[in-house]
Amino acid sequence: MINKSDMLQDIERVLVSEEEIHVRIKEVGAQIADDYRGKCPILVGVLKGVVPFFAEMANAISIPVQEDFMCITSFEGGTESTGKLTFRKDIDHDIEGRHVLILEDIIDSGSTLKMICEMFHERKPASVKICTLLDKPTGRKVELKPDYTCFTVPPAFVVGFGLDYEDYYRNLPFVGVLKPSVYQDR
Ligand code: IMP
Ligand code: MG
Repeated sequence: MINKSDMLQDIERVLVSEEEIHVRIKEVGAQIADDYRGKCPILVGVLKGVVPFFAEMANAISIPVQEDFMCITSFEGGTESTGKLTFRKDIDHDIEGRHVLILEDIIDSGSTLKMICEMFHERKPASVKICTLLDKPTGRKVELKPDYTCFTVPPAFVVGFGLDYEDYYRNLPFVGVLKPSVYQDR
């Protein structure tokens, strides 16, 4: 059961510290700025888990960018992707001829991003690339490789820095493994 007075008690171990996250985002942001100089890309954040990552990454990219968001959910509360994607909000901008960089919190099966990429390609963008805070390659069910990965994580259910369990733990400043006792027997 979720501990309502102390989030830390529900964490088995820290996978990526606050400091490591900040350092790595600066590094990847500088790389993205170099790669996209003169191209004014449009950054598309996949809500809701991407919020803290998006804010920090956008600040680390020191070139002009446009920002947009979309909302798709693949979990209906649990810790396993249902495979059923619910489309809640599309982006506001027309991406025809634009360089699109999708920002995501974590890639697990790859289904969410594959669907987004296919949908975007029909809109004739100049390019579509993916930047993810975390990659969990062991969970992959469809072929999908991110262009920018901040950290690779092992097969465990993780929370923090935007990642959630039932919308809890998003405000933890680090990424950690959630104790299975929190979500088992429910
Ligand atoms: P995919 O479609 O299986 O790649 O799932 C991607 C989405 O599932 C992510 O955007 C997350 O919202 C969610 N997700 C996958 N693994 C985890 C996890 O370990 N913790 C929290 N959310 C996760
Ligand atoms: Mg997500």
